[in-house]
Amino acid sequence: MTDTTTHPAGPAEDTAPNFRPILHYTAKNTWLNDPNGLVWHQGVYHLFYQNNPFDNVWGNMSWGHATSTDLLHWTEHPVAIACDEEEDVFSGSIVVDHGNTSGFGTEEDPALVAIYTSAFKEGSAHQGTQAQSLAFSTDAGMTWNKYAGNPVLGRGSAHFRDPKVFRYEGPAGSCWVMVAVEAQHQQVVLYRSANLKDWEYLSTFGPANATGGEWECPDLFPLPVDGDPDSVKWVLVVNINPGAVAGGSGGQYFVGDFDGVQFTADFDSLVPADADGTTDLRHCLWLDWGRDYYAAVSFSNAPENRRIVIGWMSNWDYANQTPTGPWRSAMSLARELSLAMVGGWPQLIQKPVLPDLAESRGRVFELASAVTVEDSSHPVHSSSSGEALIIRAEFLAGTARRFGLDFRETGPAGEVTGQTTLRYDVAGGELAVDRTASGKAGFHPLFPSVESCPVTLRDGVLALEIVLDHCSVEVFAQHGESTITDLVFPAPGGRTVCLVADGGDVTLSQLSVVAIG
Ligand code: FRU
Repeated sequence: MTDTTTHPAGPAEDTAPNFRPILHYTAKNTWLNDPNGLVWHQGVYHLFYQNNPFDNVWGNMSWGHATSTDLLHWTEHPVAIACDEEEDVFSGSIVVDHGNTSGFGTEEDPALVAIYTSAFKEGSAHQGTQAQSLAFSTDAGMTWNKYAGNPVLGRGSAHFRDPKVFRYEGPAGSCWVMVAVEAQHQQVVLYRSANLKDWEYLSTFGPANATGGEWECPDLFPLPVDGDPDSVKWVLVVNINPGAVAGGSGGQYFVGDFDGVQFTADFDSLVPADADGTTDLRHCLWLDWGRDYYAAVSFSNAPENRRIVIGWMSNWDYANQTPTGPWRSAMSLARELSLAMVGGWPQLIQKPVLPDLAESRGRVFELASAVTVEDSSHPVHSSSSGEALIIRAEFLAGTARRFGLDFRETGPAGEVTGQTTLRYDVAGGELAVDRTASGKAGFHPLFPSVESCPVTLRDGVLALEIVLDHCSVEVFAQHGESTITDLVFPAPGGRTVCLVADGGDVTLSQLSVVAIG
């Protein structure tokens, strides 16, 4: 098991082409990883994140800061909470302290309170441990002060981190609840507090399901099942690195109940270990089946009770080596979550948050009439790789054994310089993204890969929403029942979307493409 808190550094040089995405947040000149402190306040979404203010590889961990009013257009601000001689500032969350329970603000003008992990450095009084600390802002998140009484919660552990705090109102009363991890024990630990400063231990969940790496960045929140307010379930998100279904880092989740003290996973959410003690990772519940969706956490207080998450679009297997510069690493699109009964169990449904603004900025293409191909490929859309594409497609399965789309990059003479392929395997009931020939793939031996996830056709139909940006592809299958997120680094040039069928025919019954340049 690797120690994920000492991520190895890679090259810091600027490697062209830039690949900076259009629809995804990147820091201008620096490194980022996990989203932190996702909070909505006074009409503004705040995205804080793990940031190295001095370089584009992991290190000097501090909280960077960006804001948005639509979750798509972000403005970068100065570093919010900086590392110092004592500590690196690791992942955590932010709450709006409405009742002024902490005393950092006033009831009329509540403070924002960040609960973060102090990763104490050599020479500090707490060296060798990770503990939870507070910082507060009384100017709507723009400047931050570390609390003089830090740390507020330690366990004498070197791997106790990533606190997500939320307001609990329920049968067990009204209080702040923290979920954090004992990373190397594959445990989520729960605490409660009246004032964010004094914490009382509640319970522990885990190990369970995927346990082949450190548990990191947990989240716990309620959602109605199929929109029914009388049927609420709790979702426990547990990120894991390594040991995710596609290799390296990824996010699993459990569905169950939380009584204010303990999270209990539904029987359906738990995967029993095989006789040899291993767990079939493909039976676990995953937020995403791709290689590049990690450390996903939710806004604690998005308006209208929406549950919106953002993930870090990379993988610790190669995050420090991706061929971009001067920036490195992007956030995923924001996703809105709901719970629905799928195959008899409540499971997460995820939809990308793409406000209409994205559509109005773009060129819109609609397929005039259905296209059928048999044992061949047929171009259905052309653009430049300089544009980001939002593709909505519906396929009617015919006799083809495999069908899908190719995203082909072409050079000046029309020659194919690379391609990312998306295939549905009818007999296997699996959707796969293949990025082995997607462009720059040789910068790390673990990068070239094929990711797949189980997908069930509905009345013979496969519906896909695909967002292709300058260095990523995010696929939402069957209206968000499963997702695959992968980085890809294609050569610049033309891009053709081709409909492909193998071993029979398939019909593309609908296709719309929004191209944003
Ligand atoms: C997850 C993680 C967290 C930690 C942070 C450090 O990617 O390892 O557990 O708080 O990154 O940057």
